[in-house]
Amino acid sequence: GEERIWVGVVAAMAVIFLAALAYAAWVVGLQVPGGDVQLVEPQKALQELKPGVREIAPGRYEVIIVARMWQWFPSNITLVNPVEVKFRLTALDVIHGFHIVGTNVNVMVFPGYVAEITWRVPQDAKGKYLVVCNEYCGLGHQNMYGVINII
Ligand code: CUA
Repeated sequence: GEERIWVGVVAAMAVIFLAALAYAAWVVGLQVPGGDVQLVEPQKALQELKPGVREIAPGRYEVIIVARMWQWFPSNITLVNPVEVKFRLTALDVIHGFHIVGTNVNVMVFPGYVAEITWRVPQDAKGKYLVVCNEYCGLGHQNMYGVINII
C-alpha cells in the first residue's frame, strides 16, 4: 500500500543524510565537535599549552595558538611541506573565532577550553594564508589576524 512507499522514502532520506555526513567528514574534512574536551584555566594557558609549532612526524604538525584581544599568539607561523596540521586553540579572555581564509578551518575559541581542528593540507597549498578572527571580540576585532606560510 501507500505506507510502504513512504517508509521507503524515509529510509532513502536517512541513507542520503548519512552519506552526506560521511562525505562531509571524510572527503571535505569537516568535523563535528565531540570527544574529549580539554579544560585549561585561562590565566595559566600560556604556561600549560606552550604555544608554537611542533612537527610530530614528517609533514604532521601540531600548532598551539592562544588568542586574546586582539591577537593570535603566535600570529605568524611557517610550515614546511605540511600534510596534516592539528590546531589546538584556547583564549585568555573572550570568545574568538579562528578562521584560515580560503579553507574549511574555522573554529570558535573559548576561554577555558582547548578547541581542536585538523587541516588536511592540499598538495598545492604553498603560499601565505590569512588567519582572521570571525567572532566579534571588541574594538580591535577587525585587526586580529595572522599569517600561515606554507613552504
Ligand atoms: Cu578576536 Cu574577534
